[in-house]
Amino acid sequence: MKIIINSKENCAKIAAREYAALLTGKPNAVLGLATGSTPEELYKELIAMYNAGEISFKQVTSYNLDEYVGLTGEHPQSYRYFMDDKLFNHVDINKDNTHVPCGIDMTNEKAAQYDKEIEAAGGIDLQLLGVGNNGHIAFNEPGTALDGVTHVVELTQSTLEANKRFFDSIDDVPTHAVCMGIKTIMNARKIILMAYGKNKAEAMAKAIKGKIDLDVPASILQLHPDCTIYMDAEAASAL
Ligand code: GLP
Repeated sequence: MKIIINSKENCAKIAAREYAALLTGKPNAVLGLATGSTPEELYKELIAMYNAGEISFKQVTSYNLDEYVGLTGEHPQSYRYFMDDKLFNHVDINKDNTHVPCGIDMTNEKAAQYDKEIEAAGGIDLQLLGVGNNGHIAFNEPGTALDGVTHVVELTQSTLEANKRFFDSIDDVPTHAVCMGIKTIMNARKIILMAYGKNKAEAMAKAIKGKIDLDVPASILQLHPDCTIYMDAEAASAL
């Protein structure tokens, strides 16, 4: 694990350079993308680099980590909407090559097809991750099997609480999501995890220094051969 502690702005700038290096060497790279407030700064940097003519997404294929069950892509809190709004609409990516799991009529059987699609695309070159306050990655909540593929999950109360800020009330937060499994994530050739703020400090300390533990899904990243963690000082404060 490589650990970079810097301001949110600088983390985004440094990580954006990793994307530029990847896309320069492999313009048709397969990107694993994430939602949440954490990657927004990075997406702004990538858009700025695209506008400056430094990178292109023309040949890129992308697979997002997760989606809420029950929300269509038109719903402003759906992760498809987020990706279009925060990144895809502002760069030259071919939307047909962007994939966000479908939250409608989803079953575990259908969800597992997502892994097959990723495999057929050549596997993920660079997977971006945020982290939940409880150490979840994507929506793989504490207790999730480490060898799981894309599946439907029930969100924990703490995740519903953390994500209610995006909805009118906690009752509007979908109770289930479809998300890449931990095995799917670990299969990526390179992983970048970003974590900002005090709320993430405890989870990050356990993920980095603790034992590999089902109850802290992010701790599995200790076993990944090429994982870089970007944190601000607050997220790193319990290390
Ligand atoms: C959600 C997403 C995760 C994300 C997490 C943290 O639960 N499914 O992928 O990492 O929120 O969100 P934020 O970046 O807003 O703190």
